[in-house]
Amino acid sequence: MRRKVAAGNWKMNGTRASLAELRRIAADHPDCPTEIILCPPATLLIPASEMARGTSVAIGAQDCHALSAGAHTGDISAMQLADAGARHVILGHSERRSDHGETSILIRTKALAARDAGLTAILCVGETLAERDAGRTLDVITRQLGSSLPESARGTDTIIAYEPVWAIGTGRTPSLDQIAEVHAAMRAHLRQRLGPEAEMIRLLYGGSVKPANAAYIFAVDHVDGALVGGASLKAADFAQIIAALSDA
Ligand code: PGA
Repeated sequence: MRRKVAAGNWKMNGTRASLAELRRIAADHPDCPTEIILCPPATLLIPASEMARGTSVAIGAQDCHALSAGAHTGDISAMQLADAGARHVILGHSERRSDHGETSILIRTKALAARDAGLTAILCVGETLAERDAGRTLDVITRQLGSSLPESARGTDTIIAYEPVWAIGTGRTPSLDQIAEVHAAMRAHLRQRLGPEAEMIRLLYGGSVKPANAAYIFAVDHVDGALVGGASLKAADFAQIIAALSDA
């Protein structure tokens, strides 16, 4: 039985005042069947980790460098994130792929760095609208997974998020059949590569998950949780998504 995951991605949003939302999430979920992860911007990692200590909320980062130290102005290594209190790191988000030209090969090296630093990677994959319209969705997803997921991936160090690029921040979501098709294909890919360990890896859906659609999405086979952007910024919305997962 895979434990459900509600992961919030604050992206480039939030200042110290926003930590009040984290405080509410932690206070309202003292003991939660769903694993709760919040990924604030790097500037908030240390205060967020301090606030989350001893609660049911784990703190994650949104990216890391592939190397552990060196002359890389502006970058942050996985080891530094762990030192700041992060336990997870989002890797390969489509905004990193498009804004920073990140490739699946680079993302794989970051996943290895994250594992070496003791972080759990939340590895993102997803097709563009043009790729979906061209009927290439499954091909794109399996190729991204094939190049970015290390052979050594384990359920304890890796979570995978399917995030169609066209659904992120748009209010549009795929149909439940479309989500089911991609999640089944991801599980099949994992089984082929990792054998029985494939059953341990949680598969999240991300892209315009809201309180109103969460329960429907979480009823889909092989959806083990959500990676939530906009709706994770407000504790009240995120709490409804956590509740939908806990009931699923
Ligand atoms: P969204 O973002 O929930 O605002 O669509 C999801 C994500 O990018 O992780």
